Amino acid sequence: FSAFLTDSFGRRHSYLRISLTERCNLRCQYCMPEEGVPLTPKADLLTTEEILTLARLFVKEGVDKIRLTGGEPLIRPDVVDIVAQLRRLEGLRTIGITTNGINLARLLPQLQKAGLSAINISLDTLVPAKFEFIVRRKGFHKVMEGIHKAIELGYSPVKVNCVVMRGLNEDELLDFVALTEGLPLDVRFIEYMPFDGNKWNFKKMVSYKEMLDTLRQQWPELEKLPEEESSTAKAFKIPGFRGQVSFITSMSEHFCGTCNRLRITADGNLKVCLFGNSEVSLRDHLRAGASEEELLRVIGAAVGRKKRQHAGMFNISQMKNRPMILIELFLMHQ
Ligand code: GTP
Ligand code: 5AD
Ligand code: SF4
Repeated sequence: FSAFLTDSFGRRHSYLRISLTERCNLRCQYCMPEEGVPLTPKADLLTTEEILTLARLFVKEGVDKIRLTGGEPLIRPDVVDIVAQLRRLEGLRTIGITTNGINLARLLPQLQKAGLSAINISLDTLVPAKFEFIVRRKGFHKVMEGIHKAIELGYSPVKVNCVVMRGLNEDELLDFVALTEGLPLDVRFIEYMPFDGNKWNFKKMVSYKEMLDTLRQQWPELEKLPEEESSTAKAFKIPGFRGQVSFITSMSEHFCGTCNRLRITADGNLKVCLFGNSEVSLRDHLRAGASEEELLRVIGAAVGRKKRQHAGMFNISQMKNRPMILIELFLMHQ
């Protein structure tokens, strides 16, 4: 495995997340500040060629999984083409997308044909009116349609990401669990994380332990599944149910020790940790005509600076980072 992608703690970074756009067709409260974010001029965003050049390089060095994120990746007009081109990279085993689901039902048949292998869909509530409140847009039924289309086309499990916030949706945990009885879903309850402008506070965060207690009260037979290597999620199952539920415990029990992820932002920065604020512009090096070796040296130096773990939830909430939307999420400004 490439020394450039191995950090000083021996973690091998074989999973690359690429943000395809900073734009989004929703405006989720936990993702972006209410006033929006200044968008990067188009000329400063990675072109499709540049994305593919970087992907090729990382795969050559040992990356075997790429996840496309955003903003909302499905609003990039050439997303299907990007998936098709990635599919041709030898050594790349998994191509995933994390989407808000709005355009999914429409695009999934083409994406599947192009080679998309895994789908994660964000959905924080099962109540349409609450959906509109959280995401500040309409679209609940489109997302549900997307989820069903993914199941119908054979994706299994279809992962559903649910960011749990006190006072907003923590009363729906058991309803989400009920969905897994008949559907091959992996519903993932995510601890609310602080990012610039999302008004995070400790009281709004519902911890893993608290969520697990709620589930166990109703379902004492809840069974823990074996941990998957380098997974963000701790998985559980109710015997007899088709799907499963998981918890992403970035705040109360981080999983940095087995982290295998790197990310590239839509403006071409390599970010070695979701909560790290040291970034290096691969775009600038590419545009200055850097050779593969030069690029690898820059990447290797950044990976070498990666910290053992994130700074802890209170420090993170004080720290300057990007808003989630400008890291990899979905939002606004059509
Ligand atoms: P899989 O590839 O299916 O394992 O999905 P994933 O959990 O890696 O990615 P997804 O885009 O579905 O994100 C789900 C949640 O995990 C989001 O809240 C992400 O912010 C969080 N997450 C993803 N990657 C990381 C990471 O490297 N570190 C931390 N702390 N959280 C992450
Ligand atoms: N805390 C936790 N998860 C978040 N996501 C977006 N913002 C936050 C946050 N503040 C999740 C979304 C999406 C995934 C990529 O990140 O639910 O599914
Ligand atoms: Fe990896 Fe950083 Fe996430 Fe920890 S916080 S798992 S080191 S990306």
